[in-house]
Amino acid sequence: EKVVLAYSGGLDTSIIIPWLKENYDIEVIAVSVNVGQEENMVEVYEKALKSGAAKVYVDDLSEKFVTETIFKAIKAEAKYEGKYLLGTSLARPIIAKRLVEVAHLEGAKYICHGCTGKGNDQVRFEASIAALDPTIKIIAPWRIWDIKSREDAIEYANKNNIPITVTKEKIYSVDANLWHTSTEGGDIEYLENEHQNHVYKKCLPLEKATNTPEYIEIYFEKGIPTKINGKKLSPVEIVKVLNEIGSKHGIGVIDIIENRLVGMKSRGIYETPGGTILYEAHNILESATLDKEALHFKQMVSLKYGELIYNGLWYSKIREAIDAFIDETQENVSGTVKMKLYKGFIKPAGIFTENALYDYSISSFGDSELYDHKDAQGFINLFTLPLKIKAMKKINKENK
Ligand code: ARG
Ligand code: SIN
Repeated sequence: EKVVLAYSGGLDTSIIIPWLKENYDIEVIAVSVNVGQEENMVEVYEKALKSGAAKVYVDDLSEKFVTETIFKAIKAEAKYEGKYLLGTSLARPIIAKRLVEVAHLEGAKYICHGCTGKGNDQVRFEASIAALDPTIKIIAPWRIWDIKSREDAIEYANKNNIPITVTKEKIYSVDANLWHTSTEGGDIEYLENEHQNHVYKKCLPLEKATNTPEYIEIYFEKGIPTKINGKKLSPVEIVKVLNEIGSKHGIGVIDIIENRLVGMKSRGIYETPGGTILYEAHNILESATLDKEALHFKQMVSLKYGELIYNGLWYSKIREAIDAFIDETQENVSGTVKMKLYKGFIKPAGIFTENALYDYSISSFGDSELYDHKDAQGFINLFTLPLKIKAMKKINKENK
């Protein structure tokens, strides 16, 4: 028998390897997916073997990550609870799909992950796997074993000759990829505490942000960013370059209390420098190019979209249906947005598009052919009619 393990190289997933072999008498196939987490993937590969994996797959799926989930999120401007740009949630479907692919290649009936029993990630992995292959069985050690703390885990690692590297970061639960870094746990778990600058992994703290404002221009083609400052870049490069620029200006940090799918509230610090710039740029361009009714409806759809991504329902009919709607709205969202970046702020500094529905001659204060000031009087008469009727009824009643 074989089990495919979602392997990160960290302590938690490393000790899972001997634990699986001990408890299931099973061959462990470790799968590491590079979604831009800036980890040395060669080391991850070697560590999996040293920890007892029979075989290791390491794949760079950063580009897939950007084109298949991140770009869709940008077009939709999907957020969870108004703020979270979904960095972890968007990577899970890409990783889960690879796990299922390897399970098929290897003829494995089991997939194992190292998510805790208290989080969203377990749900996301298992929902994606269920949608892609409902016959695969899940092993989730954190919901079964007796290892309850970091100390337990280290002890188990030592007993099984698993190499461990304990770093400063380990007080926090961190998830990093190309799009974002999330930090949870430790002192962040106390609401009274201001989060400290040392949690930052992608962004410069505001105090260290450069004193020099910077202009950037992003070009979008049907809602997808393709150029920065006139230069065509690959999808991965776009995010990387904007991460660097955003970081320099302290852009993209949020500190939120969110509602996890499994019922509890939790606090997280998220750094999404490039993503924050891209969402804002997209929002500015769309405000000029998408008509009112479509835009307003899209805002409702976006809310739902963010929620279902957060909840792990990527591989679902509703997600595909929403994507079809979103794509329809992006038909004219092409052009360049210029922005000025300074100390955590993004200021619009020019919109350049042939598709603007904003029309100077109509919107400007003077008279125009299409807009006659006098028309406004009749419009307001009808628009305010229900208000007048209601107020009149009230007066009549009071006078009775
Ligand atoms: N709370 C965020 C989310 O649900 C981040 C989760 C981070 N995951 C992790 N395994 N550290 O998307
Ligand atoms: C975990 O529990 O594995 C991390 C947090 C989360 O999934 O929300």
